[in-house]
Amino acid sequence: MNRHILVAVAWPYASGPLHLGHLGGAYLPADIFARYHRLAGDQVLMVSGSDANGTPITVKAEQLGVAPKEVVEKYHPEIIGYWESLGITFDLFTTTMTQNHHQVTQDFFLRLLEKGFLEKGKSEQFYDPEAERFLPDRYVEGTCPHCGYTAARGDQCDNCGRTLDPTDLIQPRSRLTGATPERRETEHYFLKLPLFADRLRAWIEPQTRWRRHVRNWALGMLEDIPARAITRDIEWGVELPVDDLGPGKRIYVWFDAVIGYLSAAIEWAKTTDDPEAWRQWWEDPEAESYYFIGKDNIPFHTVIWPAMLMGYGGLNLPTDVPANQYITFKGEKASKSKGVGQSIGWYAERLQPDALRYAIASVLPEQQDTDLSDDEIIRRVNEELVATWGNLVNRVLTMSDQHFGGRVPEPGELEPGDEKIVALAETTLDEVAKNIESVELRAGLRSAMEAAAEVNAYLNATEPWRVVKVDPERAGTILWAAIQAIAGIRVALAPYLPRSAITVGEMLGLGGELKGWATSGVAGGTPLGEIAPLYVKLDEDYLS
Ligand code: MF3
Ligand code: ZN
Repeated sequence: MNRHILVAVAWPYASGPLHLGHLGGAYLPADIFARYHRLAGDQVLMVSGSDANGTPITVKAEQLGVAPKEVVEKYHPEIIGYWESLGITFDLFTTTMTQNHHQVTQDFFLRLLEKGFLEKGKSEQFYDPEAERFLPDRYVEGTCPHCGYTAARGDQCDNCGRTLDPTDLIQPRSRLTGATPERRETEHYFLKLPLFADRLRAWIEPQTRWRRHVRNWALGMLEDIPARAITRDIEWGVELPVDDLGPGKRIYVWFDAVIGYLSAAIEWAKTTDDPEAWRQWWEDPEAESYYFIGKDNIPFHTVIWPAMLMGYGGLNLPTDVPANQYITFKGEKASKSKGVGQSIGWYAERLQPDALRYAIASVLPEQQDTDLSDDEIIRRVNEELVATWGNLVNRVLTMSDQHFGGRVPEPGELEPGDEKIVALAETTLDEVAKNIESVELRAGLRSAMEAAAEVNAYLNATEPWRVVKVDPERAGTILWAAIQAIAGIRVALAPYLPRSAITVGEMLGLGGELKGWATSGVAGGTPLGEIAPLYVKLDEDYLS
């Protein structure tokens, strides 16, 4: 009955401010999904944290001339600030610098080693002869062998999305010195991915409810899947729990980061009365887990992490990996590394939290890349959020306030048109629930907004502002019917617009708290709260 839902959200590198692409790619969808399930009475555990490892962190540290730890300590609080200002409700947002995470990662490594899923091997890695050191993934740039993109990184091509090894790059160059790196032999641990290929395929193939681009990508990867090195020649990261590789080696960021979903659940449980509580989300086969990530992370979440979990044994595989495509800003991929688009904090300072949530939720790149601009944000807020929902609530409640003594009017006899509007409360909740269950969050928002538009059309047709002068009882019935619909739509919108849900509840005299994924109806005679516009209408050049 009581479902356990793990909402696992991509761990952002704490190497700079995050932008709206991150918000729409992973964090907002995860929060909408989690809020819906909490309202539906499910046991939700939503975890993530700052990714403290990897070359994005060390490159930044070198630029700033500080230790990697200081980079994380600078950006981690900033990131937490975004979640607070936008109401992104993590049960735990930690970092991969914790002792707990290091220990869980090392245990994971040792278990895979014991079970024969890791092997040592020599590989050629790039070495910068000027800097006299090995160059891990992102320290190398070059041309993608698959698509020809000239600024591909050593771990992945940002253009075609394929995962790479630095040695795959054509015309490689060192990001440290610009020198052409040489290949040198080095010894590492490898995850024996080929051992899992058949099991992975048998698991992924039946996942026909996954997004098509996600499933196709994962299956394509399995066509030729080599063992992957899970250690690197670096000084920063999780230490190896074995010492047979010699000094200067650490666990590769991608091996430890995905383990973060597990270590964060364990860390969270330690803060509750039941330190074993994490098992309910990880070991109960009925529990569900959803991974909210951007498309560049698909390989790690649909293939590599599941292989690691299969090897470890006894832990749940992902139920779904509803990866998003990209949000572009005027055609360019927003990205920390390229500095396109302002930070989440910049927007959060300027917009009401629900206005920003609305603008992003309405363009979530669920099926394809979607383009966003400041003009588009303003247009969505003014022409949709304010004009449709804000205006509906405002005009119905203001009329009730003025003509019915600050109370919900008592209804007279209902006409069929009124009944249709009252029924919207329930049907909208059902519709939106269906959309969110299948992680079609954009469609869920559209369903709720269409219901609001239908109530607006009903008001325009019935004209209670005119009727009230000649037939107050009829006007009261119309307003009462609209209020019933508003009460249901308020709940349906709550995962998207959580603060507005509280405010609308107070205005309706229901109290701010939501009582689950249900509408109770609002009785005639209920005293209304203080009525004020929900949202600020924005000037055209407000963000310029
Ligand atoms: N920090 C990495 C990135 O932003 C990994 C994120 S998801 C992880 O791409 F959970 F797997 F770490
Ligand atoms: Zn490419």
